[in-house]
Amino acid sequence: MNTVLKPASSEWDWLVQDDRVHRSVYTDSRIFALEMDRIFAAGWVYLLHESEIAQPHDFRQAWIGTREVVVTRGPDGQLNAFANRCSHRGATVCREAQGNAATFTCPYHGWKFDHRGQLFGIPGKTAYGPAFKNRDMHLARPAQVASYKGFVFATLNVHAMPLTEHLGNAARYLDQWIAHQGGAENIVLAGAQRFHLDCNWKMVYDNAGDGYHVPFSHQSLLMMTQQRYGGGDMSYFADADRSRMRNHALDNGHSLIDQRPDMFAQSAWEQQRPQPGREVYEQHVAATAPDARATLEATVGAGMNLNIFPNLLLIGNQVQVIQPLRVDAVAMHWHATRRRDADAPMNTMRMRTQEDFPVMGEMDDASNFEQCQRGLSLCPEDEWVDMSRHFETGKDLVEADGVLSGPVTSDLHMRNYYTQWKRLMQAEPALRVDKGKLR
Ligand code: FES
Ligand SMILES: [Fe+2]
Repeated sequence: MNTVLKPASSEWDWLVQDDRVHRSVYTDSRIFALEMDRIFAAGWVYLLHESEIAQPHDFRQAWIGTREVVVTRGPDGQLNAFANRCSHRGATVCREAQGNAATFTCPYHGWKFDHRGQLFGIPGKTAYGPAFKNRDMHLARPAQVASYKGFVFATLNVHAMPLTEHLGNAARYLDQWIAHQGGAENIVLAGAQRFHLDCNWKMVYDNAGDGYHVPFSHQSLLMMTQQRYGGGDMSYFADADRSRMRNHALDNGHSLIDQRPDMFAQSAWEQQRPQPGREVYEQHVAATAPDARATLEATVGAGMNLNIFPNLLLIGNQVQVIQPLRVDAVAMHWHATRRRDADAPMNTMRMRTQEDFPVMGEMDDASNFEQCQRGLSLCPEDEWVDMSRHFETGKDLVEADGVLSGPVTSDLHMRNYYTQWKRLMQAEPALRVDKGKLR
């Protein structure tokens, strides 16, 4: 690496300044390794949605940063999470991304674990003596697992604050997002579109609160929409600082770009880009819904980019998960959602909307993330990443609900989460897993 780190006492304040960040934060594998402990393992990170493991013995792999876990639903409906790392020699025990299984057998030497990761079968067990039998050899469980209205989080930090405290004032926006989906009990995460990108995971998080890039990065999409259909969804980003959208700095590094004031100003349904089946759906709604207008407005995206630091992004009606892989590699998982209470035509139309983005837009972003990483790697002497937009314009204000907001193109989102990042990176968390026997 081409990293130059300043002396320890001032290191963090030098790396992350009020309005700029040092490139090594994106390129230094030592910082990345520390992030996996202090940002991911020590904080609450999103694992999965309960609807993905709805039935008894459903399981799915998930990640606490680079640590892989298996999350299962017990026969009693309880959620369990354990490290996907055999307590024998470390082999990956569960090699399926998801499925349904009451037990897990490690392919290497055949040790057997139940749905809670409890060891119950060792081939040739008589070869092990009392010292072995006194050891805790169950699969390692993270210190805390909790669900907020179906969104499952975990942490390895025994002293982590309660999940609701971590969500802080982002919870009220999460509740609004959930309400747009018809309530927590109606949300079902469907399959995911998965991307593998050659960039640091924070490139994705940076962009999640970036209301500045849209008319440039997504120019072809907006031009096509304008030329063929005379405008539509997202066109209000063209002159974004004059729009009614705001960039909200939330607790603990969370943030929100709220598109709703513009998107729903007239009719969000009317300004959507054309989708196959729109006219047929409108006829269906007119014939079946008690309030056709409200049903059409409920079919569109939520109009929110709600970012739950460090790895959960709610975009429109979709759930995007950031999975860091290496300092310069990340996986992104875009889960479409459907509603349990919706009929097939509504869920089909929701899927058409969810195909619009990422299919027609996310590649623009992905390309920029990789090119930023490339630039930071290729030119080490040019050390800084800028986040000073609207830092000095005095346009931030405290909203009536007490939330600090800025113009939608402000870098407030980055400045806000880097404050949390720096705080966490300086702490020395007590990371713990438990391999003991469960009752
Ligand atoms: S490594 Fe799993 S049984 Fe040996
Ligand atoms: Fe974008």
